[in-house]
Amino acid sequence: MCGIVGFTGTREAAPVLIDGLRRLEYRGYDSAGVAVSDGGTVNMAKVKGYVKNLSEITHDGADLKGRIGIGHTRWATHGAPNDVNAHPHLSSDGRFAVVHNGIIENYALLRQELTGRGYKFASDTDTEVVAHLLELYYDGDAKRAVMRTAARLEGSYSLGVLCSDGRLFAMREQSPLILGLGVGENYFASDVAALVPHTKNVIYLDDGEFAELTPDSVTVYDVLGRAVEKPVSRVTWDVEAAEKGGYEHFMLKEIMEQPACFKATVEPRIKDGRIVFENFDLTDEELHGINRVIITACGSASYAGQVGRYIMEELCRIPVSVELASELRYRNPIIDKHTMLIVISQSGETADTIAAMRECKARGARVLAIVNVVGSTIAKLADHVIYTWAGPEIAVATTKGYTTQVAVLDMLAIYLADRLGLMEKERYDRLVDALHAMPGQIQRAIDLNRNIGRLAKKFCRHNAIYFIGRNLDYAVCMEGALKLKEISYIFAEAYAAGELKHGTIALVEEGSLVIALACYEPLFDKTMSNIEEVKARGAEVLAVALEGSRKILSKADDVIFVPRTEPVFNPIAQVVPLQLFAYYVARERGCDIDKPKNLAKSVTVE
Ligand code: G6P
Repeated sequence: MCGIVGFTGTREAAPVLIDGLRRLEYRGYDSAGVAVSDGGTVNMAKVKGYVKNLSEITHDGADLKGRIGIGHTRWATHGAPNDVNAHPHLSSDGRFAVVHNGIIENYALLRQELTGRGYKFASDTDTEVVAHLLELYYDGDAKRAVMRTAARLEGSYSLGVLCSDGRLFAMREQSPLILGLGVGENYFASDVAALVPHTKNVIYLDDGEFAELTPDSVTVYDVLGRAVEKPVSRVTWDVEAAEKGGYEHFMLKEIMEQPACFKATVEPRIKDGRIVFENFDLTDEELHGINRVIITACGSASYAGQVGRYIMEELCRIPVSVELASELRYRNPIIDKHTMLIVISQSGETADTIAAMRECKARGARVLAIVNVVGSTIAKLADHVIYTWAGPEIAVATTKGYTTQVAVLDMLAIYLADRLGLMEKERYDRLVDALHAMPGQIQRAIDLNRNIGRLAKKFCRHNAIYFIGRNLDYAVCMEGALKLKEISYIFAEAYAAGELKHGTIALVEEGSLVIALACYEPLFDKTMSNIEEVKARGAEVLAVALEGSRKILSKADDVIFVPRTEPVFNPIAQVVPLQLFAYYVARERGCDIDKPKNLAKSVTVE
C-alpha cells in the first residue's frame, strides 16, 4: 500500500527516485510523484497512474533539478486516484513536501483544526495534514517540526519529509521503512527492493523512530529526538532477483523460480536427515503444553494455512483452526498460553495480520511467524520466526511466496509430529527424502503443463469458474480460485465438493466450467461422483489429477496432470499448474498481470 523513497547525494535525485518507485510499484499504482530540491525551491511532478507516466512527463526525471528528494507510488485510501491527490503534498508555504504510506487516523480532526487556523487544503488526502502541521510547528528547525508533528499523528505511517532548506527526514510508525547507506549518498524506501541497486547495507527503522539523512550521514532518533545506535544489516539478495530476467511478467518468472525457492527454504533446514529450525526452540514441556494451534493470515497466506491445517492435524493430532486475521482481531478470541499462534505473511507488513498477532500475543499465545521479508514488522514482533527464503516477490499475486509458506508448514508438521512422538522413523525418513525430491517434482509440474496456454485459450471467456475438491484438494482450490480471480477478473470460487448439493450446484448449467481437483486419493471416488453430478447438469470439467490416474480420463473433459509426490506434499505440485492456468487466462484476456486492478501487494492498511 503505497511505496515511498528518498535520496540525498551529489547526483540528480529525480532519476534515482523514479527508478526506486518502479521497483516499489507493486505496492500501489494509482499515481506517482516526486519532489526534489537543492535547498531553496522544491521542484515537484506528480501524475495519476503508473510510474511510467511520471517518467514520461519528467523525461525520466531529467526535467526536475535537485539532489535531494522524495518519491511516492500510491494505492489510494483517502481521496480519488487523481493528479491532485497524488503525493508529494506541500505545506501552504511550500517549505515542506511530504510522502506517506499508511493512514493518519485522526486526520479529520487535524484538518478541522488546521482549517480553523487558516490553512487551505488542496487535496482530499489524510496525508496533507502532515505538510501543514510541519509548517505550523516550524520555528527555524525542521527537526523540531518533525518531532512536534509526529506527536500529533495517530495511525500508521512511514513518511518522507523534504524541507526546502535542504534537510531530509524519514519517519516510521507501524509502516515499513528502511534506510540505505551508500557512499556519499543515502536513501530510504518502503522496501529493500528500491535500495539494492545502490547498496546492500541497510538499517531497519523501528516504530516511533525517525532519521535525518545527508549525503554523508544517517542519524536515527527516538521519539524524544535522542540519537539511537542502530545495527546495520546486509541484504542477502542481488538486484537481478528483483528484475524480470527476460520473462514477460514477474508472475511467470516467480512461478518458474519455485523449484529453487522451495530448495532454498527447505534444504538448509535438513541436517543429517533431520529437520532443524534455527529459531524455534521449544522445550519438551512447552511443546506438550500446547493444546491447539491457530493459524492466522490474509489472502493467499491464509490459504497456505488451510493446507497446513489439514497436514498438521493429520500428522500432529492437534486441533488447528485457520482464522482470517481481519476477523480474528475483532473477535475477542479465546486464547491462552496453551495456544500456539502461527502467523503467515509474505511481506510481514499486512496490517490485519499484525493486529491479530498483537491481540493474540497480549492474551498469552506463543507466536511463530512464517515470513518472507527479513526485518519486517511481523518478524520482529513474533516469539519465533521461520523465514521462507523465496527472495523478493514483485507480482501482486503471490506464487513462490505461497509455495514456500506451504513448504515451511509441511516441515513444521513433520517436525512437531516427531517431537510429539507421533511419527515412526520410517515415515519420517520417507518424508524427509520426499522433501529433497520436491524441487524436481515442482519442476515436473511445470514441465507437464507447458501447453496449459491451450486450455487457457479454451476457457478464458467464461464468466464464472467453480473450483471443487475435498480435503487437501479443497485447500488448494481456494488458492487456485483466488489466483484466477485476482489477475483475470473472472468470478472464481472454491467449494468443498461435498457441499455442492447444498446450494452451489443450483448455479451449474450447460457450459459452466468446473475445475475439479482430484489428487487426494482417499476421497478420489467421492470427487468422481461430484464430477458426474456437475456433468449431468451440463458442466464442462477440467480436472487436476495425479500422473497415471486413468479413471479421470473417462470422466473429465480435460485433465491437468501433476506428478505423484508424498500425499502431504501434493498441494505444492498441484498449485503450480493452477498458477500457470490463471496466468495464461489473464494473458489471453489482456489483463495487467503483475498489477491487477484495485489490488496491492503489501496491504499495510486495514
Ligand atoms: C495481498 C496480496 C496477496 C497476499 C495477501 C497477504 O492481498 O496481493 O498475494 O496473499 O496480501 O499478504 P502477506 O504479505 O501478509 O502474505
